[in-house]
Amino acid sequence: MDASAWARSNDEARLIIAASFQQRLVAAAELPPYTTELERPFDGMLSIGSAWTERLFDGPFYLAPLPERLPACHLVFVQSLDGNTGARDPQTLGGGDTDKHLIYEGLTRVSADAVLAGSSTVRGGRVVFSVWHPEFVRLRRTLGQPRHPVQIVATRRGVPIDRELLYNVPELRLVLLTAPGGIAAMREALAARPWITPIVVDAGHTLVDAFAQMRAMGIERISAVGGRVLAAELIDAGLVQDVYLTTSPITGGEPGTPIYPRPLELRTVVRKRGTLHEAGVVFEHSLLRSP
Ligand SMILES: NC(=O)c1ccc[n+]([C@@H]2O[C@H](COP(=O)([O-])OP(=O)(O)OC[C@H]3O[C@@H](n4cnc5c(N)ncnc54)[C@H](OP(=O)(O)O)[C@@H]3O)[C@@H](O)[C@H]2O)c1
Repeated sequence: MDASAWARSNDEARLIIAASFQQRLVAAAELPPYTTELERPFDGMLSIGSAWTERLFDGPFYLAPLPERLPACHLVFVQSLDGNTGARDPQTLGGGDTDKHLIYEGLTRVSADAVLAGSSTVRGGRVVFSVWHPEFVRLRRTLGQPRHPVQIVATRRGVPIDRELLYNVPELRLVLLTAPGGIAAMREALAARPWITPIVVDAGHTLVDAFAQMRAMGIERISAVGGRVLAAELIDAGLVQDVYLTTSPITGGEPGTPIYPRPLELRTVVRKRGTLHEAGVVFEHSLLRSP
């Protein structure tokens, strides 16, 4: 086994250990349920859930219908009370465990074919975007989805493929949305990793074209988890149908880091409130009218 294959298999083992540890940790966490303040689904919306999620979420979880030619794409964000999303660890923004485990790593992702993140959100972390709670692992199987969603990372300049776990587990399908410069910077690393599919995004092949290409690859539903720089580009390209946004009861985060630099036209479908020690948390699912 050469050195890079050895490193990859080590990384794989670490992933399995981390996943099983996380599963136990998450299963043990007591999640305060949400209560419903508003529920107004539109014709054509789909709903998913299990008895367990319906109890914690206080009802069904809605998804936007699939567009014809492109994947459906939603944003998932947590923001502080004063509207900031930037934070090294977004959990410090105060959204709480129910947001993290039920919404972020659960309901928004359980039926997704792929999770999309900007390189600044991925960078440095030993992160794999998947579901971990046993209830969601089961629900994902019931929905006919593979264990892990496709991992999509957007990077124009390229990412340090050799150094990060995410790019070194052959069992994970990966797509890199990148520019010609990124392809050049990652050429050797990509040649050694056939499980990574690069898609070039430039003036002649826009994000919309890249989305159409991903739909042709079988990716129908994308959960875009930020950050705000990538989110704004997706919104501007008209690729986002809906937003799952949790607002915490505390101020904080990096100042001046809203999801989008201008007001968004949102129509609220569902509004829930946190309970017990998460009282004050507000979760909203809204449809987005493209700017
Ligand atoms: N509150 C939340 O819910 C939440 C969610 C996610 C992240 N965060 C936080 O937000 C911060 C990171 O967010 P961010 O907005 O600074 O960065 P980001 O959106 O995660 O990543 C921006 C990077 O994505 C790449 N990119 C953007 N548009 C692209 C395109 N059209 N094609 C190809 N690549 C593209 C570029 O990568 P290159 O520079 O590599 O070229 C760009 O620098 C962190 O603090 C993170 O913890 C918070």
